[in-house]
Amino acid sequence: MVVYNLGSINSDYFYHLPNLPLAGETLVAHEYRRGMGGKGANMSVAASRGAARVMHIGSVGQDGLWAKNRLLEYGVDTRHIASGSITGHAIIMIDPSGENSIVIHPGANREITKDQIGSALSEASSGDILLMQNETNQQIYTAKTAKELGLKVIYAAAPFEAKSVADILPYMDMLVLNEIEAKQLETSSGQDLQSLGPNHIFVTLGSRGCKHFDKLQDKTLHFDAIPVKAVDTTGAGDTFTGYLAAGLDRGLGVEQSIMLATRAAALMVMRHGTSDVIPDLKDIEDKFGPQPI
Ligand code: RIB
Repeated sequence: MVVYNLGSINSDYFYHLPNLPLAGETLVAHEYRRGMGGKGANMSVAASRGAARVMHIGSVGQDGLWAKNRLLEYGVDTRHIASGSITGHAIIMIDPSGENSIVIHPGANREITKDQIGSALSEASSGDILLMQNETNQQIYTAKTAKELGLKVIYAAAPFEAKSVADILPYMDMLVLNEIEAKQLETSSGQDLQSLGPNHIFVTLGSRGCKHFDKLQDKTLHFDAIPVKAVDTTGAGDTFTGYLAAGLDRGLGVEQSIMLATRAAALMVMRHGTSDVIPDLKDIEDKFGPQPI
């Protein structure tokens, strides 16, 4: 099976600050780094680290060929990453507690064409997974085409936009969102999460773990997080979603996949950075021991 990921690719610029800036405030960063990121790229790398075969569908400018090469180096199939204008980028500000504020410029991430999607999905088979987040264009077309081809659609509602989620809801099998996004969705839709379309909804709760609403079995389960010292939460949600997709792709059950994703995200918050520092299965086992079955 293959995980097809319609996803953003960004240059991430990290600034470590004494606090997140207030309106009108100028701050001096005490540390600066650059790396590969984008919620899409982070999920592709996480799924690949989790032993899935991953096909990334995206776009970068000439200035982002390094990121395309890096995805390849991390085991991701990059044949359907097109050449666009300028590569998307993100300014990531991190405070001493590891919390962040992020500003993104989408650039080429919003220049993906229907032809590109068609050509990538022409390689897909029923039972493959389509993963998406909200940092690219062509989401509705891709979700609809994937559904027609029999793929399982997993959508991470980040960054949250009520209209984007509403547009994709009819095609989603699984929805992943954090607590704030879950509240925003309930407010914008006027419905409880449980009464929305997808059969599985996962709400990540940071250090409090994760909730899984299983509509098929009419049950809600809570999964504890692993207590760790967080230094940087950036990309932890993406790591969770990528590993969740990898687990499902490998045929693990939903609960086992959540436990794997929880472990991967716990290790991720102990690291500074995004795509470049996403742990692999060995890192997870070395840190937390073999996964309980
Ligand atoms: O979720 C973290 C990601 O959000 C970063 O890698 C950044 O590029 C933005 O897309």
